[in-house]
Amino acid sequence: MARMLNSLALILSIVCFTLLIPQGTPAPFLFPATQSTVLPEPSNFFTPNLLTTPLPTNSFFQNFALKNGDQPEYFHPYTIRSASSSLSLSYPSLSYTSAFISQPFTPDLTISASQTSTFQDPNNNHHHVISDFNDLSVTLDFPSSHLRFFLVRGSPFVTCFVYTPTAVSISTNYTILSSSSSLSSDSNTKVTIKLENNQTWLIYTSSPIGLTDSTTSTLTFGEFSGIVRVAVLPDSDPKSEAILDQFSTCYPTSGAAVLGKPYTLGYKWENNGPGDLLMLAHPLHLQLLSHATVLKDFKYKSIDGDLVGIVGDSWVLQPKPVPITWHSVGGIKENFYSEIISALRRDVEALNSAEITTTSSYFYGKLIARAARLALIAEEVACLDVIPSIKKFLIETIEPWLEGTFSGNGFLYDAKWGGLVTKQGSTDSGADFGFGIYNDHHFHLGYFVYGVSVLAKIEPAWGAKYKPQAYSLVEDFINKGKLSNLLYPRLRSFDLYKLHSWAGGLTEFADGRNQESTSEAVNAYYSAAMMGKAYGDTQLEATGSMLAALEIQAAQMWWHVREGGNKIYEKDFTRENRMVGVVWSTKRDSGLWFAPSEAREIRLGIQMLPISPITEVLFSDVGFAREVVNWTLPALHREGEGVGEGWKGFVHCVQGIYDKEGALEKIRSLKGFDDGNSLTNLLWWIHSRKLSKV
Ligand SMILES: *[C@@H]1O[C@H](CO)[C@@H](O)[C@H](O)[C@H]1NC(C)=O
Ligand SMILES: *[C@@H]1O[C@H](CO)[C@@H](O)[C@H](O)[C@H]1NC(C)=O
Ligand SMILES: *[C@@H]1O[C@H](CO)[C@@H](O)[C@H](O)[C@H]1NC(C)=O
Repeated sequence: MARMLNSLALILSIVCFTLLIPQGTPAPFLFPATQSTVLPEPSNFFTPNLLTTPLPTNSFFQNFALKNGDQPEYFHPYTIRSASSSLSLSYPSLSYTSAFISQPFTPDLTISASQTSTFQDPNNNHHHVISDFNDLSVTLDFPSSHLRFFLVRGSPFVTCFVYTPTAVSISTNYTILSSSSSLSSDSNTKVTIKLENNQTWLIYTSSPIGLTDSTTSTLTFGEFSGIVRVAVLPDSDPKSEAILDQFSTCYPTSGAAVLGKPYTLGYKWENNGPGDLLMLAHPLHLQLLSHATVLKDFKYKSIDGDLVGIVGDSWVLQPKPVPITWHSVGGIKENFYSEIISALRRDVEALNSAEITTTSSYFYGKLIARAARLALIAEEVACLDVIPSIKKFLIETIEPWLEGTFSGNGFLYDAKWGGLVTKQGSTDSGADFGFGIYNDHHFHLGYFVYGVSVLAKIEPAWGAKYKPQAYSLVEDFINKGKLSNLLYPRLRSFDLYKLHSWAGGLTEFADGRNQESTSEAVNAYYSAAMMGKAYGDTQLEATGSMLAALEIQAAQMWWHVREGGNKIYEKDFTRENRMVGVVWSTKRDSGLWFAPSEAREIRLGIQMLPISPITEVLFSDVGFAREVVNWTLPALHREGEGVGEGWKGFVHCVQGIYDKEGALEKIRSLKGFDDGNSLTNLLWWIHSRKLSKV
């Protein structure tokens, strides 16, 4: 009997286990293949084994894979540039006005081999090769110099592996005021140099090597193979040098992020050498880190705020959970339904009569998501009779993109980098805002994914039929894996060290990657979570939710500028700006890609749109809402230029967070709306606000 019960339990557990397996992702759907005429050639930089897998297109080392590969990238705390078989580092200082902040690249030290071999790479260039990359690191090889650099983000040391006996030299444009050698812990050699710019650099080597030559601009070491590590001495703490000495022996070779449990992001570094690993955390890391050993006085400065020492080769980061709901989080009182319903009836009627003229993946996506909002609002205010007509619109607008029958544009698959491009974008790098060179993917696709998710919710049979296509849209930007049989690179836009997304794509920029609209990035991950909900895919929902949560906290940290502030930015900049226009890796701009900095209503609007239930989490700080509207209002009366009604709508949305009545009055008198917005959606937002005057 007991045995029978046991085997019954076994059968039951097998059954339960089978039921618990999330409905697997469908067999991958491939949009028709294209040979883009505008994409750069990855084989110029990536080693052949990496070329067989999808490649990153918005990454922290993207400049290293474009054109000559010689524009700098930011590996907190250093900006690093690779050129002519040597690597230059800068511990950058800030330059700023009230309109921008930047960290221009001025090389402090350059590491090279004093003689390069006759090795020639196949392309006859003396540049680096990318031999490995991971979420938090990239490995650059200089075959002609026998040097391999493990560039790991947040490492206070830059680590170089000299893999064949080679004479290494370190040179600078500043006069070397003094240099001294000593034995550090574990009898490694340490050389200290003081430069005329007041920086002190520490050079550690894994075994003693002699200085063969030292001039006022160059140190040359004897032939050596092993590890060389270089760090600037921060002046924050008198103990800094002892700390660097202590942690000089354990070096990271790569770093990965682990997206495991809900709302938990892990970091795990591979490292070598004795001792513990020392890495640096930026201010958002410090908010999210649990159980870390923090060296709070060991600090480097950075455009992103102070970077603080953390001991250990794994971290756990936990963002604040966010609600992932189809409808407003707090609900709407029934006495407000009628005003929303009358706007809804008019907006739905207009849906099927207006002809769509755009073929742009961005503007088309916005129209789809706008209509999807109407369906969800109709559910929320119990006006179900308009839903069939919205459904018809969604089917007619979405299907042609999924079927490849949309005339004028559509999605194609590029196997070179691994990802979707648009038809227009496959021959024109400027079309669809650069979608064909992997710019803005999460923005455009986020709108499509939202529309598809809502349609799959209200018409499950349609959802089931198009699930393979739906997944190919969402996986283009939120693929979690890194296996060779996958079609898309891991997390195309999301930066797992900075904890927000980048747009930018495959364009070389001196300031690194950039992102303008954080709200459209939030929309992308929120929409991915909604797709997970629509298909009962808890993994997709969990990944989308966590990335939305992180993107929101990063937006509040680096885009939303509070008056009293978190003091990340310089006083002059903080005084004039409540909202950053564009965040770059090494710059903050008050201007936008498409508008000057005076257009504050656009600066606010582009960080607000599209309005959906997640917007209230992004703008959860009521004090900030008040400050940013107060700052924007004077711009609504700018002389000489028309301020768009569409943009005003977003300003009044933010106003509605603390002044519901005042905002409602303004919204009722608007004469137009952003193409992704509607009166229905604005009224839904205002009437779902709880506060009337705060
Ligand atoms: C000196 O500055 C120039 C111009 O920025 C740069 O190209 C060069 O690499 C620098 N040299 C060193 C040794 O850093
Ligand atoms: C270096 O420090 C000295 C003394 O504090 C100061 O006078 C000088 O301006 C500094 N130089 C630079 C380039 O920062
Ligand atoms: C609103 O802006 C004015 C200047 O335009 C400023 O003096 C005032 O302190 C601001 N009030 C709030 C609540 O931010």
